[in-house]
Amino acid sequence: MPLFLLSSSLSLHILTQIRNKDTDQINFRKGLVRLGRLIGYEIANTMDYEIIEVETPLGVKTKGVRIYDLENVIIINILRAATPLVEGLLKAFPAARQGVVTARRKEFEGKEPPKEMEVEIFYEKIPKIRKGIDNVIISDPMVATASTMLKVLEKVAKEEPKRIYIASVIASEYGVKRILELYPQVYFFTISIDPELNNKGYIVPGLGDAGDRSFG
Ligand code: URA
Repeated sequence: MPLFLLSSSLSLHILTQIRNKDTDQINFRKGLVRLGRLIGYEIANTMDYEIIEVETPLGVKTKGVRIYDLENVIIINILRAATPLVEGLLKAFPAARQGVVTARRKEFEGKEPPKEMEVEIFYEKIPKIRKGIDNVIISDPMVATASTMLKVLEKVAKEEPKRIYIASVIASEYGVKRILELYPQVYFFTISIDPELNNKGYIVPGLGDAGDRSFG
């Protein structure tokens, strides 16, 4: 089960800042951008590379590393909450092609936490995914019931990319389990797995509504 939990104190420090209800919109967004960069660097460490030789300005040849997968990256931005996270991911993958999916969860309030949310996808534009070549990073800071993510995964998986990554900041235990049961091949990156969902489908303790906190 390729689940990657970022544990550096810097990522936890930034996560703690954005969980804080007193963090304002600008600093919340900045925090997500910084986390996107950190997650991106961790993702890059799992990509394929080759050993190459270069010549330095001193006229000396030395061996080095070239991550050739950096040229084969597609980042999917699940609008609107993923936008700051994608801004950070692009620091790690400046050559990435980008896709967008506009999804809206239907508001829900029940007696129990929902197992599924009604999700409407009303616009999507994803670049052509090359079978066995592209590394597709699906970005959504909050994976709660995973209903949105599963819809996007279904579209991406059928194109059979080389790898599928999830770049998230907080995922619920339920959401992680649901995704990895159906897509055990997915590389799931997150910073925290939170234990609960509330009766409106929000992650607890979570950080609230990531879209609202970023964009008001
Ligand atoms: N989306 C959010 O922004 N927050 C949650 O807690 C769950 C889904």
